[in-house]
Amino acid sequence: MKDFLWWRDGVIYQIYPRSFADSNGDGLGDLAGIISRLDYLADLGIDAIWLSPFYPTPDKDFGYDISNYVDVDPRFGTLADFDRLVAETHRRGIRLILDLVLNHTSDQHSWFLESRSSRDNPKRDWFIWRDQPNNWQASFGGQAWEYDPVTGQYYLHLFTKEQPDVNWRNPDVRKAQLDVFRFWMERGVDGFRLDVFNAYFKHPGLPDNPPKFGLRGFDRQRHIYDIDQPEMIPFLNEMRLLLDSYPERYAVGETYFATPQKTVSYCGPDKLHAAFSFDFTSMDLFYPVYPWNPCWVMEQVIKREQTFNAAGVWPTTVMSNHDLPRTASRYARGENDSQPFLAMSLLLTLRGTPFIYYGEEIGLRDIHLRHSEILDPPGKKYWPIYKGRDGCRSPMQWNDSTFAGFSTAKPWLPVHPNYIRRNVASQQADPDSLFNFTKKLLALRKEIPALRRGDFIPLETPPGMLAYLRQIEGQSVLVAMNFGGRNFKFTLPDGNWRVLLTTTKDSPGTLNPYEIQLLILE
Ligand code: NOJ
Repeated sequence: MKDFLWWRDGVIYQIYPRSFADSNGDGLGDLAGIISRLDYLADLGIDAIWLSPFYPTPDKDFGYDISNYVDVDPRFGTLADFDRLVAETHRRGIRLILDLVLNHTSDQHSWFLESRSSRDNPKRDWFIWRDQPNNWQASFGGQAWEYDPVTGQYYLHLFTKEQPDVNWRNPDVRKAQLDVFRFWMERGVDGFRLDVFNAYFKHPGLPDNPPKFGLRGFDRQRHIYDIDQPEMIPFLNEMRLLLDSYPERYAVGETYFATPQKTVSYCGPDKLHAAFSFDFTSMDLFYPVYPWNPCWVMEQVIKREQTFNAAGVWPTTVMSNHDLPRTASRYARGENDSQPFLAMSLLLTLRGTPFIYYGEEIGLRDIHLRHSEILDPPGKKYWPIYKGRDGCRSPMQWNDSTFAGFSTAKPWLPVHPNYIRRNVASQQADPDSLFNFTKKLLALRKEIPALRRGDFIPLETPPGMLAYLRQIEGQSVLVAMNFGGRNFKFTLPDGNWRVLLTTTKDSPGTLNPYEIQLLILE
């Protein structure tokens, strides 16, 4: 086995391009802005970047509605900028992963414009048209079918009505989609994140989904015919063959309605390399709060360890992304970073590939918007029960200058007012900041194979703390975390444990409030 495989042993950093860095003063981040910050990322110590969509888009779902899969939206730059981005990331030893949103296009994509133009257009069957809707619901609210007066039929859209679902059962569509992979791999891209991949295929008869108890229309049915159809597997086989015809390419799937069991069923040597199981970001329907306590965390870890180990699939760890309230906003009180430190420790020391969401390394908090300021479609639809995802997409906070060093103009979403104190520059200068802690942990992962590849072994602890070993032959690392305000003494396994990293500089086996310790067996 190779000693360092970038997507398994490395750390992937997600950039939401419109919010990372604006190079041309239009208030929107862009590719040149990202290039200007690559040294920052190299210094932080990440191994790969996942870029959320930068393709031409009418922005009905902020880039996840794509009108051309093989170009760059002029607001973000040009293909030449993109090529420069590939070259500059590679020059720093960083890999680049693109977000492919192939379940649906924008309704402005030429494929859909042709498809909708007449019933006998050669691309009619590239989308899913019916005389009558079934009972399927769009996950952003309302029916999943939109009547199109031009040809008198309904088309299917599992998200907004401006995001028609493509018909993956049509062989020409499959071929065209595989060409998209090819196009970007030829430009040097190292891998892909596949948006809601397990929704590509729908049941051919489009039967009604059976009902179940739920709050929103979308949750009041069992999604057994609109997602997870068996035809997904042969397509993954075909895609993997294509990826494997290039060196060290990677595909990670965004599993829609993820569970560890479902996730592993899509991964393997002839399927996806990895898929998200979102073990730490789910909410209970009857208790709509993100759970967060050591006992719950350990339960999730053990569940996923069992499932992923049994299947021989490598897990991923996600605490935040562009669809969720940020980790710090979920678990921290005000500006206190104790909980974000704990979350970062888990992210970077559990077994699995960590995905850091931009700004997570400085504990960015969500912004709060008034109803009239909301941009995100589901936020507009469900306000005030659900306020959408704008909160976690605010501009990166680089320094304390106007607009946080993100742009010289008013950004597309407001900067969090805490930017004066919470920003990259101030945290770089503070040895005890979350930024510097993250950087140290990233360096330790590079140095210590047990932290990357070691088995996960849970340890017995008093309630309120969490401890585990990461172990390979000849190397053992112990990770201990105190989630609360009490002091703990715990019994270390036999041997001489040396401190690798601690947040309060205490001795091995004693944990101060909120302390995190990493110890290595000598
Ligand atoms: C999942 C993406 O993560 C989300 O941002 C997007 O809105 C939907 N898929 C639709 O593409």
